[in-house]
Amino acid sequence: MSFLSATLARVKPSPTIAVTTKAKELRAAGKDVIGLGAGEPDFDTPDNVKEAAKAAIDRGETKYTAVDGLPELKQAICDKFKRDNGLDYTPAQVSVGAGGKQILYNALMATLNPGDEVIIPAPYWVSYPDMVLLAGGEPVFVAAGIETGFKLTPEALEAAITPKTKWFIFNSPSNPTGAGYSRDELKALTDVLMRHPHVWVMSDDMYEHLVYGDFEFTTPAQVEPGLYDRTLTCNGVSKAYAMTGWRIGYAAGPEELIGAMRKIQSQSTSNPSSIAQWAALEALTGPQDFIPVNNATFQRRRDMVVDLLNAAEGITCPVPEGAFYVYPSVAGCIGKTSPGGVKIEDDEAFATALLEEMGVAVVFGAAFGLSPNFRVSYATSDENLKEACRRIQEFCASLT
Ligand SMILES: Cc1ncc(COP(=O)(O)O)c(C=O)c1O
Repeated sequence: MSFLSATLARVKPSPTIAVTTKAKELRAAGKDVIGLGAGEPDFDTPDNVKEAAKAAIDRGETKYTAVDGLPELKQAICDKFKRDNGLDYTPAQVSVGAGGKQILYNALMATLNPGDEVIIPAPYWVSYPDMVLLAGGEPVFVAAGIETGFKLTPEALEAAITPKTKWFIFNSPSNPTGAGYSRDELKALTDVLMRHPHVWVMSDDMYEHLVYGDFEFTTPAQVEPGLYDRTLTCNGVSKAYAMTGWRIGYAAGPEELIGAMRKIQSQSTSNPSSIAQWAALEALTGPQDFIPVNNATFQRRRDMVVDLLNAAEGITCPVPEGAFYVYPSVAGCIGKTSPGGVKIEDDEAFATALLEEMGVAVVFGAAFGLSPNFRVSYATSDENLKEACRRIQEFCASLT
């Protein structure tokens, strides 16, 4: 009998981390590699946030806190939901964890029984299916392809719902596509959910503030107040505030669910870092003016990358509404052969050959459940992006 658990056998390690590791190895071996795999902003954490953390240390805020968050931070989160989303929550409806990842994981662990189904639009953030599997549930994938702008249609959602459906995971703007649902597109989905009162909604709003042009961010409980009692609205400071390493995520929802999540956290990690919580409080309550400044940079990079990728032979790259990713299709490259002799049978072969022959690290689409595509993170310098796109163009032109 295996020493390792049967549950563990159901999951796989994060493929995005695998790509980053491979790129690092090649770089350490002296190869000139440009990494477009990172899922984090290349900006530094704002100074006021760093100062708040230092002040917290100096004040001696270095002890255990309440398991699922400082009262001050929970209040600031309630204020944020009111200010940005028009949603009313009390501190008892708020949970704070070590990153958005822990929040989502706690919610799934607290609610899933064997056989429970979780609807996940594909392409998806790599951790959703494996977290569902770890919690004993069954991921149900529903394709949201390039032809619908990588957005789930109401018909596809309706068709995926069964009596066993427990959660629908919604992520807009999306990792890996950057696609953001307009209010009308989201309303069409919430109309479906209103017809199925047993289905709960887990809205992962991690990229809320990273939206471009005139796109207006909305979240399910805001668009359809009828879903308020069965929605967990999840968010965090990692992406908008360039705080990925600080590990603070949060969610608000029905008190019973929040209590169940607290129970899991109390017996696993306890409170997230006290210092990071004070820093997150400053992030949420301090000046927000650097967000549009960072966004202007992201938008400029997005437009540049989309143009350069569309100029590559065999690649089609839609313009996404937000996040810092694009998800081009390589349909036009499939079946060709690289100068190094690799037959491009699928997106994994494309990404592997691109890394080995041209030194550009991207994550292949199969990792996100929709092929033939790859994900580019444009959270890196203009210089890196231009050179990486030039290499991708050269690679595509060299395929025969
Ligand atoms: C869609 C999405 N949700 C959640 C997370 C997790 O964020 P955190 O770093 O706060 O755990 C990420 C991080 O990559 C993400 O892309």
